[in-house]
Amino acid sequence: MAACSPALPQNTLAPAGEVARDILGLFQVIFWMAAVVFVVVQGLLIYAIFRFRRKPGDTAIPAQVHGNTPLEVAWTIAPAVILAVIAVPTIGTIGKLAEPPDGKPVAQVSVTGHQWWWEFQYPELGVLTANELHIPVGSRVNATLKSADIIHSFWVPRLSGKSDLFPGSRTTSRWFDADQPGEYQGQCAEFCGASHAHMKFRVIAQTQADFDAWVRAQKAPAAATTGAGATLFTNKGCGACHTIEGLAQGKVGPNLTHFASRGTLAAGEFVRNDENIATWLRNPLAVKPGSQMPNLGLSDSDIQTLVTYLQALK
Ligand code: CUA
Repeated sequence: MAACSPALPQNTLAPAGEVARDILGLFQVIFWMAAVVFVVVQGLLIYAIFRFRRKPGDTAIPAQVHGNTPLEVAWTIAPAVILAVIAVPTIGTIGKLAEPPDGKPVAQVSVTGHQWWWEFQYPELGVLTANELHIPVGSRVNATLKSADIIHSFWVPRLSGKSDLFPGSRTTSRWFDADQPGEYQGQCAEFCGASHAHMKFRVIAQTQADFDAWVRAQKAPAAATTGAGATLFTNKGCGACHTIEGLAQGKVGPNLTHFASRGTLAAGEFVRNDENIATWLRNPLAVKPGSQMPNLGLSDSDIQTLVTYLQALK
């Protein structure tokens, strides 16, 4: 119940898009039918407990009854009817969520899950980013999902239901949308190792104009590929895992070309500011156990140089 508090950002009962509303509508139908079943079954149970309990003076064993054909037929048919009724909106909603929407424009995004971060690629726009998924309000997003390592699950409680991401050639996909500009929290929803709980992301819904401006900024060249920070980045081997266009082409960790355009770092773990970047660089494994980001043993001055450099990658 605490998890459903309206004050919390991952409240699936506060949908902010058509897809999330459809899912909530289905949930409510099933919830209230289940509630009626619960009350009836528990009511009968409590009635039986009190009505047939042993009373003072009862010495004989009660009549021993085996089998009651009308009752057994009834409690076979009743659940079958309930399930058949539930199947109608369930199948309808599944079908609706699986189909491309009528009329609305489509924004295509490829999502790749990694231990423990999210890669977002816009194949039609030539944009590659991490941990912050920008979407235009008024479009339906078609997310195709896959994993680079093990099974993860994509979940944005206020916008989208859960879909697993599988390694190998199998891709899954789902549609979702947002009504209003805003930020929505996402979270990996499939246990995927020591830092599963640290595999967060944000969906940033924007007006089409703001989204277009963001795309232009993401496609711009990297802010700096030379200077003390870029040299240190190269010398410490950061480029083996991270891409900065024009400087390094690592594919293990998030693309950092426009790192400072994001509000968070370490897969939503921290707000991006100097202090938090330094904390992360000083000992990534203390923040995210099992992370492939090693502890590089950086000196304080190296950390300061890298913080300054990363913060300039607008
Ligand atoms: Cu990825 Cu849990």
